[in-house]
Amino acid sequence: MIDFHSHILPKTDDGSSSINESIEMLTLSKQQGINYIVSTSHFYASDESPSDFLLRRNSAYQKLNETIEGSSLPKIIPGAEVGYFEGMSDCDELNKLIITGTPLLMVEMPVCRWSERMLCELEALYEKQGIIPLIAHIDRYIKLLHDKKLADKLKGLPVLIQANASFFIDKKTSRTAFSLLAKEKIHLLGSDCHNITTRRPNLGEACKAISDKLGNDAVNKIRSNGRLAFSQKKTSLEELFI
Ligand SMILES: [Fe+2]
Repeated sequence: MIDFHSHILPKTDDGSSSINESIEMLTLSKQQGINYIVSTSHFYASDESPSDFLLRRNSAYQKLNETIEGSSLPKIIPGAEVGYFEGMSDCDELNKLIITGTPLLMVEMPVCRWSERMLCELEALYEKQGIIPLIAHIDRYIKLLHDKKLADKLKGLPVLIQANASFFIDKKTSRTAFSLLAKEKIHLLGSDCHNITTRRPNLGEACKAISDKLGNDAVNKIRSNGRLAFSQKKTSLEELFI
């Protein structure tokens, strides 16, 4: 299983605070059946340039990777969680922030009603740069999704949807989570883990909850979507669009 959302790199954002903490997070992930984990450190265009971000991210990635080399811990795949900003579709450097080996760029949308302009920006990322936006933690915007018009607009967009494990674990939200997954409106999962205490790796727990509720095929479908993301078969990913 691939964890598509994590803040596993040490001292890169509000996630892991040290190499030791990163290793503990990786160990917990491994115990839950995770063999790959995408590092999606926060990137905010208002704070720094993509190239400055990449210098920081790559340095943290190399340090951690050297430390775990030869171990059986999950492999780390570098990516980013890019805060939405106006004009992002014209920023060529965003190409370097995609999840390595995929055409996916994780985008963190604002927590407000999404305007037509925002949705056009996502579409333009795909049209102008061939990047497929992967909308991070859709569970955070669930009230917006219940807005029928927004749901209809998302339907025609070239985007994929990621949900956090907690969406499926939390009893208050799990019903909605299972329903969206069953309708194939969620494509990829992530723990969005930040540490080993309050926001620890928990994707294994979510997979068990999904398997118990919807059967193992639902978990296998998520696995298969993850493999597709790295398969270089863009057309197969496009078939997943809502
Ligand atoms: Fe995140």
